Amino acid sequence: MIKFVLRPQKSLKGFVTIPSDKSISHRAVIFSSLAEGTSVINNFSKGADPMSSLAVCKALGVQTEFRDENSVVITSSGILKKPCVPLDCGNSGTTMRLMTGLLAGQNFESVLTGDESLSKRPMKRVIEPISLMGANIQAVNGHAPLKVSGNKLCGIDYVSKLASAQVKSCVLLAGLFAEGHTRFTEPYLSRNHTEIMLKYMGADIKTDGCNSMIKPSKLNPVEIDICGDISSAAFFIVAGLIVPDSDIILKNVGLNPTRTGIIDIVKRMGGRLQILDETVKSGEFVGDIRVQYSDLKGCKIEKDLIPRLIDELPVIAVLATQAQGETIVKNAEDLRNKESDRIKAVVGELAKLGANIKETPDGFVVCGKTSLTGGVQVESYHDHRLAMSLYVAGLVCEKSIGINGFEWVDISFPEFESLISNLSEI
Ligand code: S3P
Repeated sequence: MIKFVLRPQKSLKGFVTIPSDKSISHRAVIFSSLAEGTSVINNFSKGADPMSSLAVCKALGVQTEFRDENSVVITSSGILKKPCVPLDCGNSGTTMRLMTGLLAGQNFESVLTGDESLSKRPMKRVIEPISLMGANIQAVNGHAPLKVSGNKLCGIDYVSKLASAQVKSCVLLAGLFAEGHTRFTEPYLSRNHTEIMLKYMGADIKTDGCNSMIKPSKLNPVEIDICGDISSAAFFIVAGLIVPDSDIILKNVGLNPTRTGIIDIVKRMGGRLQILDETVKSGEFVGDIRVQYSDLKGCKIEKDLIPRLIDELPVIAVLATQAQGETIVKNAEDLRNKESDRIKAVVGELAKLGANIKETPDGFVVCGKTSLTGGVQVESYHDHRLAMSLYVAGLVCEKSIGINGFEWVDISFPEFESLISNLSEI
């Protein structure tokens, strides 16, 4: 589907309630499946990815029922059943990598499959550590489909070269079913929703900086209120900063410090952004964000900041085109292993719109401020975050643009277009 985007006649003004966090939604349904009894998940994400996790848990014998539009009730015996069908993870790397860890210690065999894009993404990063724990996983050259033959696992002390929440979560979930304790150390702290939620559900887990340690534990069923996704809010943050005269308030945004790298860099770039009404919901920080059109300057983004804004880098590239001077992104080579090669894709597509942007092996360099010309068709590469980033770029292009494959936004944010177009109609 081609979506045409036009520069809005007016500024963006008003309020947006940001829909549910994708990462937390995955964890809520997967962890609740392990808790004996009834759990309630309020504000569950309706994106295709979390729905894949829900379907996989259902295939493992867990009862799932929508109580109303957004609340899911999960009823489980606490013990998963051997599935009769392959477990289809769709486009979702989080579903596949977390489930691999979880299934490795069960007493049955299962097969995890995914769509074409997921079948090209690297799985060795999760197979390697849990194989050291005794997991028996067969892959096709390090890729899905994955045949997981449940085994007795032993805890390990694993030092990861990658700062990856999916790898960390896979190892910790395997650790829930392993003998002894399992310790995971990463070079920089990646998102810690797994640690927070497992603690909230009563697991024996301890964290200290970039280390986490888990022991086999029983999880309690709980009621979880999921906050809005800062990775979805990011598109509105950037739109508000670059569309002249905009002033918007984003409500109910998750503000876990392992995810707020975008707020730090916006402030560093001179963006007008304020946090309003911060509170804690189900163990996670939440608040409202006000963002206003701003004069911006370029900045350097590297090292420990990268895992704190990894999914926001495509839209940060758009932001950088509207900032004075150079923005340099380094140490982000893992962006090449996402739903698309996001370095190549974002550089190629923004260049078509008239941006001054260059690819580097581990990131990109943008020189601004450029007035984007547009008037061309760009490609989403079947990548939801690229499609939405290009939409935001389209809001400041002189001529309209066409985005091919826009329907991929449904993976994380089906409400995106209606919410953003409401802001220019007020
Ligand atoms: C995620 C972790 C990140 C992120 C992905 C979601 C998660 O991936 O890019 O969109 O929910 O754990 P990595 O762990 O591969 O960095």
